[in-house]
Amino acid sequence: MISAKKDIDWSSLGFGYVKTDYRYVSNFKDGKWDDGVLTTDETVTLHESAGVLQYAQTCFEGMKAYRTVDGKVVCFRPDLNAQRMADTCERLEMAVFPQDRFIDAVEKVVKANLDFVPPYGSGASLYLRPYMFGSNAVIGVKPAEEFQFRIFATPVGPYFKGGVKPISLRVPDFDRAAPRGTGHIKAGLNYAMSLHPIVDAHNKGFNENMYLDSKTRTKVEETGGANIIFVTKDNKVVTPKSDSILPSITRRSLMYVAEHYLGLKAEEREIPFTEVKEFKECALCGTAAVLSPVGRVVNGDEEIVFGMDSMGEITKKLYDTLTGIQMGRIEAPEGWIKVIS
Ligand code: PLP
Ligand code: COI
Repeated sequence: MISAKKDIDWSSLGFGYVKTDYRYVSNFKDGKWDDGVLTTDETVTLHESAGVLQYAQTCFEGMKAYRTVDGKVVCFRPDLNAQRMADTCERLEMAVFPQDRFIDAVEKVVKANLDFVPPYGSGASLYLRPYMFGSNAVIGVKPAEEFQFRIFATPVGPYFKGGVKPISLRVPDFDRAAPRGTGHIKAGLNYAMSLHPIVDAHNKGFNENMYLDSKTRTKVEETGGANIIFVTKDNKVVTPKSDSILPSITRRSLMYVAEHYLGLKAEEREIPFTEVKEFKECALCGTAAVLSPVGRVVNGDEEIVFGMDSMGEITKKLYDTLTGIQMGRIEAPEGWIKVIS
């Protein structure tokens, strides 16, 4: 599937950066946000001592715009991204970009890049990356006073190569090393600290890490870029309860879908790693990961195999229902879908 206008082969897109026409920028100075503009300039010029460069004061969000079966362009629960970014900013001592303006800016960026929204059925979508960073000079350890908020858009395909083919995880023998208790926010620093474990996992032939809680190293937390769900032998959907994982919007939605669309029991609770071998299905969930089946998990000498051939039965139902809601094939719960065009 090739776009005549943009010369992009949508169905062969991976998860990478493709420059689109417009991005949104707004600056916070003297205690207030300016009006914000769309710009074609994809570069950012920074002071050498900007808070983001010295003390990593930066955070981001991840969301998508989808082309639906009837040709509309929609976003999925953008209010929850706006709220999570506000929570992250509070924790990082950054100015909060007002949530109504966040949604308005998302709408502006999508509308300005409509030709980059992949067609229905291509398997691709338009990924949106709202982000913010401390922009003025700081040298003592303290928060910046000026911030820049931006959103760019880039068309993406599947996060893991092979789309819905099962992936493999390993439990690393070191922590993600995010400062304890801050994994629940989308701070750039948390991702920086996960780069070493992820490169190490890739070098050893795994797609991702399954992190355990850093205090006792006995309970399942999440992976570097997605939450985890499991399915029990009696078809209950369970997911780890923890204050140090990112509260995934996809996961919250899947738990709702499990209960209200599929009539399954859904439970958020602590999950000891020793229980993982008892589950019949495992999958990663997130905006980028969507719902990616996990085929095996390795922890030292122990290997747990769920099956590397195909997506499990319940995972498939969850996947079909969630993507059906996002692409307009299945009626969404009230307030989940924001129509942009
Ligand atoms: N956990 C981490 C560490 C992530 O980076 C993401 C991606 O945003 C998620 C979970 C999934 O969150 P969401 O479903 O809101 O995209
Ligand atoms: C997302 O799913 O949007 C994420 O943030 C995951 C990853 C690309 C960092």
